[in-house]
Amino acid sequence: MKVSNSFIIGILLSVLNIPVFSQKSDNLVVTSPDKSISVTVKLQKGKLYYQIAKDNKVIIAPSSLGLKFKNIPHMIGDFSLVGKNISSFDNTWEQPWGEQRWVRNNYNELSISLKDKLKREMQIVFRVFNDGVGFRYQIPAQPSLDSLIIMDETTEFNFTQDEKAWWIPVHRENSYYESIYRLTSISNIDTANTPITFELQNGLYLAIHEANLTDYASMTLEKKKEGHGFISCLIPWSNGVKVYAKAPMSSPWRIFIIGRTPGELATSTLMLNLNEPCVLSDISWVKPSKYIGIWWGMHLGTYTWSQGPNHGATTANTLRYIDFAAKHGFDGVLVEGWNYGWDGNWYENGNTFSFTKPYPDFDLEYLAQYARSKNIQLIGHHETGGAVSNYERQMEEAFQLYNRLGIRYVKTGYVNKYLDGKEWHDGQYGVRHYRKVVELAAKYQINIDNHEPIKPTGLCRTYPNLMTQEGGRGQEYDAWSPDGGNPPSHTTTLPFTRMLAGPFDFTPGTFNFSNPANPKTRVQTTLAKQLALFVVIYSPLQMASDLPENYEGKPAFEFIKRVPCDWEITLVPQAKIGEYVVTVRKDRNSDNWYVGAITNELARELKLKLDFLNPNSQYKAHIYIDGENANWQDNPYDIKIFTIPVKAGDELPLRLAAGGGAAIEIVKQ
Ligand code: NOJ
Repeated sequence: MKVSNSFIIGILLSVLNIPVFSQKSDNLVVTSPDKSISVTVKLQKGKLYYQIAKDNKVIIAPSSLGLKFKNIPHMIGDFSLVGKNISSFDNTWEQPWGEQRWVRNNYNELSISLKDKLKREMQIVFRVFNDGVGFRYQIPAQPSLDSLIIMDETTEFNFTQDEKAWWIPVHRENSYYESIYRLTSISNIDTANTPITFELQNGLYLAIHEANLTDYASMTLEKKKEGHGFISCLIPWSNGVKVYAKAPMSSPWRIFIIGRTPGELATSTLMLNLNEPCVLSDISWVKPSKYIGIWWGMHLGTYTWSQGPNHGATTANTLRYIDFAAKHGFDGVLVEGWNYGWDGNWYENGNTFSFTKPYPDFDLEYLAQYARSKNIQLIGHHETGGAVSNYERQMEEAFQLYNRLGIRYVKTGYVNKYLDGKEWHDGQYGVRHYRKVVELAAKYQINIDNHEPIKPTGLCRTYPNLMTQEGGRGQEYDAWSPDGGNPPSHTTTLPFTRMLAGPFDFTPGTFNFSNPANPKTRVQTTLAKQLALFVVIYSPLQMASDLPENYEGKPAFEFIKRVPCDWEITLVPQAKIGEYVVTVRKDRNSDNWYVGAITNELARELKLKLDFLNPNSQYKAHIYIDGENANWQDNPYDIKIFTIPVKAGDELPLRLAAGGGAAIEIVKQ
């Protein structure tokens, strides 16, 4: 007897107690504009389920929806359908900065209105795009519901079988996502942050995340005891409550980025499209920038943030950095350790931080004026040590000070397990605080680079001054991490995991790979791969991490000086998650193209077809690629730099060393 796949899946789901959707006409179905993705919604015995398919393959099996409250009955069942509406939307909008200039926002929407036995109303809105699906809960204003205390969502994410996933655990290693991604099957996951990325056995790729996390708790995934699925798990306040809300309310969008290749995940615009358009009327002061900083020296241990003989943030040292930045065409200089509060155990006692009082050996007024005279932006720094209340008390005055001095960029930091000693970074408390910072910063025309943030969810569309964030394991781990540094596969995984959430202040560009203070820890790449990371890892505020003295006189430094950080077009023509990736980007302000190709610990040869170039133009390619004998372990600095003429349709061989890479600037003649 010949049995179909869907028959077998049906049997499996019924064994696991997951409802099976028949092809009946009472199913509500909405498809993507190109018809490749469909969402099916069904009420079964009063409970609501959704299912997602791509190319006629089920990728999310029937999964429940609902909300649980404190003190009042939950809304998880006894639903009846009171209305449905299908609509379509199609427009194209321009990003002020980004990986691509124009974004098409094209979807079909299914909005369902439900009533439960108590006559309480809830709506669920699904939007289906060609690159995935988003849905959210809405509680409309109604007499019987006003203030709500949400204790849980019963949002499920069921898979048809045990799939492969790249994921990081929740709060196990730290509270701000600084983990190495694990690759395991679903059955080996307990809790996972989003984005979490799956390579499905049917050949498709899927990432689950959320968009527009506003006044709500961050969603993480908890593996269900039975089957191959997850249930949403919201990060609580210290008292156990997940979300304080008031009707009318909308939850963040739960999103599914779906692609046939890893590159389709990386170039998806779904998350941005599910955020609100820009609310700032004048953004002439929001500008992508490349910067250096008094920073790596502290991580190496040669400078200190605190006062003393090795204090990094001195007037003399800052002048040296400003002169170096001006000489080599950078836009900004970050200075950490400029303010009172670093002496002693700062990450345990953030309450001593002042955000307005410089140390005596740092002449803030003079340096701001000197930087301006050299056309360099001094980048401010607000490390809070997690002491949010102390920061909020001083925040307005601190932004006013920077605004008066013409300082337009501020890096914020929250190094501590908790905020204010008891709340998680990614609970509603943190969500509210981080938003307050971005809004107040906008009032004073300040762009934010948020370290130890809540995971990005695309808010940079609404507030483009939220330019970049950390929220991942950055290059700093290569200076001091007890596990030896970031392994070569870390950066071949990031574009398909953390980077799906938006820009990352990873800080590539280290040229000296060892740290005498931590001999067992080092940069685990070749030099060419450090250059390629400027293209592969996107950030509109892009920092070159190393000390000026390590760049002086190095031919490879030319690429860092020339590579832009604002793009017209982004393509990811070749990739295997965790193994290799080739990223191609066109500069937003010229006709030049930039390529970053990187590999994990295995050497490999790739071929890049230059079919993205204009067939009517001639180009020169300036190539920075691993030398013949390069490998990250014992010959990392071996690099070949040369220039060749290229044209559309040419095929470039890219021989990448173990842990290596290639960076290419293709200049139109
Ligand atoms: C951790 C940040 O990631 C790093 O960039 C910064 O230097 C330190 N905190 C101090 O604020």
